[in-house]
Amino acid sequence: MDKFVVRGGNPLLGTIKVSGAKNSALPCMAAAILTEDEVILENIPQVRDIETERKLLVSMGAEVELGYGRAQHRTRIKCGILSDPVAKYEIVKTMRASSLVLGPLIARTGIARVAMPGGCAIGGRPIDLHILGLEAMGATITQDHGYLEARSPNDGKGRLKGAHIVFDKITVTGTEDLLMAAALAEGESVFENCAREPEVTDLAALLIAMGAKIEGAGTGTIRIQGVAKLHGARHRINPDRIEAGTFLIAGAITGGDLSVDSCEPKHLGALITKIEQCGVKIDVGVDKVRVRSGGDLKAADMTTEEYPGFPTDMQAQYMALATQAEGTSTVTENIFENRFMHVQELIRMGANITISGRTATVRGKSPLQSAAVMCSDLRASASLVLAALVADGETILDRVYHLDRGYEHFEEKLRGVGAQIRRMGDVFGKK
Ligand code: EPZ
Repeated sequence: MDKFVVRGGNPLLGTIKVSGAKNSALPCMAAAILTEDEVILENIPQVRDIETERKLLVSMGAEVELGYGRAQHRTRIKCGILSDPVAKYEIVKTMRASSLVLGPLIARTGIARVAMPGGCAIGGRPIDLHILGLEAMGATITQDHGYLEARSPNDGKGRLKGAHIVFDKITVTGTEDLLMAAALAEGESVFENCAREPEVTDLAALLIAMGAKIEGAGTGTIRIQGVAKLHGARHRINPDRIEAGTFLIAGAITGGDLSVDSCEPKHLGALITKIEQCGVKIDVGVDKVRVRSGGDLKAADMTTEEYPGFPTDMQAQYMALATQAEGTSTVTENIFENRFMHVQELIRMGANITISGRTATVRGKSPLQSAAVMCSDLRASASLVLAALVADGETILDRVYHLDRGYEHFEEKLRGVGAQIRRMGDVFGKK
């Protein structure tokens, strides 16, 4: 199992490039199920979850090419015949976002058999809202030995029907799953209390390019006029706003001068506002953001909210920064019930953090020491790397496969701006 070895103390200096957004690419790849034509997606990140999605689509009968040559980072998907519309447990258990194929499969083939995603380190991660929405569109969904068996009306021979759905809770993949189902449903759908994340807007842009009739993506209310068929399209995936945010915090925590390039600054508003409150200097360009130290970091409270609020996927990274700020910061996690797995590891490195319910209280500035630490989930792993970049000595991070799920060439990108970080494989020197 690969490890990272990180020696702290270097300010990050220079330019670092952001890849395409994993959480846009995953629903967009699933959207290819909705047509028998070819869908081409560009700016695909080379991360483990994308490979998992490729395997999932191929296992159902799709043709999927995935190229990462210099100019590529492109995937070509053709779901001509979906001979086996089943999302098997062996794949789903490694990536719960596989549930994103549920809506498209029912809409395209009338039937779907999708393994129920287990929970994960950060919470139970139910998909009850996906199911309720599809049932409102006329699907019949039963549970069978850990699988969801879903059929469209008329025992899988009919089309889904447009519906008026008000989401009990704001759900990103729930909004995406049902948006894809509604695109091919009969009649109009109106969704309220939708997720407004840029990944939803990115998916809607692809669906519209495929011939879908969608208004309001990116707002709380989305209207969809179902169409009988969708055609192929070519679409470029948004830059990854969480990767960009992670690098901005890397520049801030190391007291460096870092330009984060090929990003979308308008997706980073809440994060930029928050780290400016910490005393960090920010210059915003068209497709880049420069972060520079503004002297000692200052404490600032933070609460995670759905977009456009401060993203839960940046909570762990912000907590690492807060350990280096003078004063006390509270960090409140409103989205997931168990997203403080990084706290104990940060404490082992010398951080002063206490948890009460959904709020962690961080008392800084705490000099961090190197230690052997364990990665538990994607963003907690990133938080530990950020802490290691300022820790005294050499920190060993185990189970970095969590990080490989969502960050492309993470250690190479950081090394390129002065970080002392290298990967230690089981087979010495394995890339
Ligand atoms: C997406 O997960 C992202 N994943 C997550 O990123 C991200 O943390 C999350 O949205 C919140 O922004 C992808 O896009 C692939 P939710 P998702 O449905 O859609 C509850 C990462 O690090 N809920 O918006 O699964 C749920 O338990 C990952 O890249 C229900 O109760 O999250 C949670 O408390 C981690 N019933 C809240 O809603 C449902 O049917 C928000 O979850 C669905 C969700």
